[in-house]
Amino acid sequence: MCGIVGYVGRREAAPLLVQGLRRLEYRGYDSFGIATRDKDLLVLKHKGKISDTVFVSNPLPGGLGIGHTRWATHGVPNDVNAHPHVDCTHNIAVVHNGVIENYSELRKQLTARGHHFSSQTDTEVIPHLIEENYEGDLLEAVRRTVAVLHGSYALLAIAQDDDRVIAAREKSPLVLGIGDGEMLAASDMTPLLEHTERVVFLEDGDIASLSADHYEILRAGIPVTRPVEIVDWGVEDVKKGAFEHYMLKEIYEQPQVFYETVRTATDESIVPLFKKVPGVTVVACGTSYHAGLVFKYLLEGMCSIPVRVELASEFKYFTPPIRDLVVAVTQSGETADTLAALRKAKAHNCMTLAVTNVQGSTVTRIADQTIFTRAGPEIGVAATKSFTAQLAVFMQVANLLCDRELDEVLSRGHLAISEVFLMDLGKAVTLCKDAGLIFFVGRGPFYPVALEGALKMKEISYIPAEGYAAGELKHGPFALLTPETPVVAICTPGNTYDVMISNIKEMKARGAPMVGIGEEGDSELEEIVDVFVPLPRSPLAIRILTTSVVFQLLSYYTAKALEREIDKPRNLAKSVTVE
Ligand code: F6R
Repeated sequence: MCGIVGYVGRREAAPLLVQGLRRLEYRGYDSFGIATRDKDLLVLKHKGKISDTVFVSNPLPGGLGIGHTRWATHGVPNDVNAHPHVDCTHNIAVVHNGVIENYSELRKQLTARGHHFSSQTDTEVIPHLIEENYEGDLLEAVRRTVAVLHGSYALLAIAQDDDRVIAAREKSPLVLGIGDGEMLAASDMTPLLEHTERVVFLEDGDIASLSADHYEILRAGIPVTRPVEIVDWGVEDVKKGAFEHYMLKEIYEQPQVFYETVRTATDESIVPLFKKVPGVTVVACGTSYHAGLVFKYLLEGMCSIPVRVELASEFKYFTPPIRDLVVAVTQSGETADTLAALRKAKAHNCMTLAVTNVQGSTVTRIADQTIFTRAGPEIGVAATKSFTAQLAVFMQVANLLCDRELDEVLSRGHLAISEVFLMDLGKAVTLCKDAGLIFFVGRGPFYPVALEGALKMKEISYIPAEGYAAGELKHGPFALLTPETPVVAICTPGNTYDVMISNIKEMKARGAPMVGIGEEGDSELEEIVDVFVPLPRSPLAIRILTTSVVFQLLSYYTAKALEREIDKPRNLAKSVTVE
């Protein structure tokens, strides 16, 4: 969702801000803008994608500035609603992520006091409030302003006659980059990596003032110290390299990601956490929810620990009466619904564990304990390597809980993923790309894999796709089966093999073209499907990984055949920080 970046230092701010905004593009946005301070306060903002021509024809001078990518919530995407927003005197400029819940009341009050509003945004109340509170000290004016805001915000403010960038955080992430003669602030670490590896994660309620050589953090008006942390991601991690899309790059990084995550998620101190509780509840959204569903099959099947998996957006409002260990799964660590569910679990006195990919993210501050996935920055909006990394964590947790019975299997996972890259999915892509609807079906742990396959397909190819437990199709969806409705079925050895073969025959009999993902040499399956995708013979855990990667590639190449905007699908944001 929206991204913000701020800079103060020895260099020209505008090029750094633009570069920073480009790093934040992956979060999703519909307009952008920057403001710098020179002789005047200069603002440039536009609807649409960041383009160099805008900045080349209007280079904004000044060594201090703020920038923003907007993902519209209040007010349509247009030039006027784009950030930064300014006050009546054009002395103050503000960029903001989050939602000001009491903005309409504040706006009425400010209008009654003579302020003029140009946009439909909630954000615009902030520069007007700062204007009223400003008596020559921007930090103090921001402090007084945030005291009347309700809702969530990560905001940056600058003023024409102040040398500082002021940053404030409440329920929306904000990280400072500590440079050499320069300071930065951004909504995540990606714009900072080019400039520094030293970062400070602000806490809710913090207000920071940044000048070129110094920063200070206040809480309730009192200076506080926050640790300076060293980022474990490098700038190369956020570059696309020779790949056409970030998504493809990230798919190809998965062997390494799986290997690293399995290697590092070996802290046995989590074992008692799982043994002390009556059960485990996973809360998550989207792809992370699907990883949680796989975890359920692993933990229940291997360790006889009951697991429930809840959509975080539901859990918050319909909290079950549990005493479980609550596991929040979130790549970004910032998904508003997942954070809200986790807070709710804490309020119910549940023990909590986070599984996340982002150092310093909000989820790590809420949960009692954290396990990190080692996926590195994921820039493609569609989650790929983060899903595989979550599976790696869950497989390792199940392994630790079950006397390391998966040790040998896990040591081979990365090799098995690499083998998928050699497969030819051309025929399956041909079958899918013109479809009006595609079903993905599987049983047991392959049911969430099917859900994830369908999610990937719909989000990047825009072809409607449904994931189903294979047995459910005849309870309604059969009505949709036609020769234009391919079904992609996972049918590998195990106790559901025979029933899957029957299901595939039933679907075939209703005219659906079938893609069968099965074990190599399975002539029975090969004979009944239209396209057979053979996987190397392997244990269940490995097949969960390989089928997931097959689906990622199938979606990717289908979307590519349809010339979709793969890394930034329409209407989507990478990190969903509003409920
Ligand atoms: C789909 C996708 C989303 C995310 C969901 C949760 O490809 O990326 O469904 O999985 O928004 O995000 P995190 O894991 O950051 O909480």
